[in-house]
Amino acid sequence: MQPGLLLALLLPKAAGVPVTGSPECPCVDVESGGYGRGCAAHDINNSAYPQCMSDAPPGWCGDMWCYVNRSNCLVTNEVSISPTAPPAYWSYTTCGYRDLFSLNNITDSIRGQTLRVLFIGNTGGWKGNYCTDNGQICVNQRGYGPVQRILDSMTRSSGFNLHQLNEAPEAVREHMARVNPTGSQFDLCTWATGMGFVDICGCSMVMLPRRTDASPFLTLWTEPVVLVGPLRGNQGLGGDFGAMLGKAFRPLSPGLWGLAVVVALSMSFLITMFEKTEGGQFEDVEHGESFGSGLFMAFFSLVTFEVQFAPQTVGGRIVSLGLAFILILLVSGYTASLTSFLVVDNRLSSTVSDLNGAIRLGLKICAHRSDSVQLLLNGVKEENVVIQQSRSVVLPSVSEGACDLAVVRQEDLEASQAQNGGSFCQLTRIGDPVTTSFSAKKSGGRAALSARDPGWLPAWRFALSLTAAIRETVG
Ligand SMILES: *[C@@H]1O[C@H](CO)[C@@H](O)[C@H](O)[C@H]1NC(C)=O
Ligand SMILES: *[C@@H]1O[C@H](CO)[C@@H](O)[C@H](O)[C@H]1NC(C)=O
Ligand SMILES: *[C@@H]1O[C@H](CO)[C@@H](O)[C@H](O)[C@H]1NC(C)=O
Repeated sequence: MQPGLLLALLLPKAAGVPVTGSPECPCVDVESGGYGRGCAAHDINNSAYPQCMSDAPPGWCGDMWCYVNRSNCLVTNEVSISPTAPPAYWSYTTCGYRDLFSLNNITDSIRGQTLRVLFIGNTGGWKGNYCTDNGQICVNQRGYGPVQRILDSMTRSSGFNLHQLNEAPEAVREHMARVNPTGSQFDLCTWATGMGFVDICGCSMVMLPRRTDASPFLTLWTEPVVLVGPLRGNQGLGGDFGAMLGKAFRPLSPGLWGLAVVVALSMSFLITMFEKTEGGQFEDVEHGESFGSGLFMAFFSLVTFEVQFAPQTVGGRIVSLGLAFILILLVSGYTASLTSFLVVDNRLSSTVSDLNGAIRLGLKICAHRSDSVQLLLNGVKEENVVIQQSRSVVLPSVSEGACDLAVVRQEDLEASQAQNGGSFCQLTRIGDPVTTSFSAKKSGGRAALSARDPGWLPAWRFALSLTAAIRETVG
């Protein structure tokens, strides 16, 4: 019997994935006494990993992997280096598993270590790292805010310590001066991390290509940008007086208002007729005057939604009851639809429902310079992108009419609406986030570029490099 066949019979078979691995990266035989040969959970009960023999083994212990030939492998694989044997390459991916072993190993490798952190100050939102005095920027020092809280919780859960650096090392600043003299503190910080002078860049930042390119080891979280535009047809209370008066009549159609006037007038006429008879309200009143009063009371009843007559005759009272009933119908209909009008007014969304709508209509969109490329990538014409130099002027530029819509960070939208006395509350978020982010990971000597669905990722952005830790990783 062929050894491969025997192996296939003995080893548990992962659903769909052959024991020989995926054709893109077939398993190979290595002289290792069966360990790592063919897709199997080789580390379960493996005494080389005491944690796999514990009562609560890490997830990777039961995951399948095999040794592979890197020259013949197109998927993620890692290498084990030993002083006594040639490098051995292995892959979880080819067996249909993500490599949680390396991840675990990385987390383990920083436990108890002291990592160098460079803090960059943030303004313009509440998710960053800022100093106490009037939101002033912290220059190269620990401030407070979400960046600090996330670092604190990470240091606790992963058991590492922080050593704060006070500035980027000279070599990084020289690199910056050479490559991008006008670059920002954020560029400097990510480069310092990518170059291995710093382990953690502590700040909230927008990930730009020149930053993601800094290192294949950067772990990134990014907050998507959202499209924002004015609510349609909502004048709020700021509309002109005429418009406000006009609104009062909108709940009922002009026809219905006309009908109400005609009915009220004719019923008032009837009441006046009855009340002109003996014992009635207008018995002793002159003809002209009584009809004048009748007319006045008819309109007065209409605007107050209440019968203003004081009828004395049976006929007058019966018609008054009828009038009162019609007024009740009118007032309930009016208030009910007035309410729905006000609610609908505020719920009406913008003139477009997503970015594609904006592109179709050729609307002008304001964006911070770092977000403008997102718009171009998403197909917005260059002449319709209005680039702003500061995040804080993007939303005002929509209010001031410089553009029809804007793209901003969700954080900026929320902060502006909360902090400016409601002055941006007429703006609303439109459709899905517009970000298209790309993440690149170097694997097996190849760079794999994959488009990632932005979705709703964690609200803060944070770059953490584990360069040193990964370099140590051997499997
Ligand atoms: C691991 O070892 C324990 C005790 O020796 C045994 O009960 C268990 O079945 C083993 N698990 C596997 C998957 O071999
Ligand atoms: C790995 O694959 C390449 C190309 O297929 C081959 O030339 C090489 O001999 C293989 N190495 C081993 C150790 O099998
Ligand atoms: C990572 O895995 C290798 C190979 O098993 C091991 O020698 C090394 O100690 C691990 N690192 C940590 C920090 O556990």
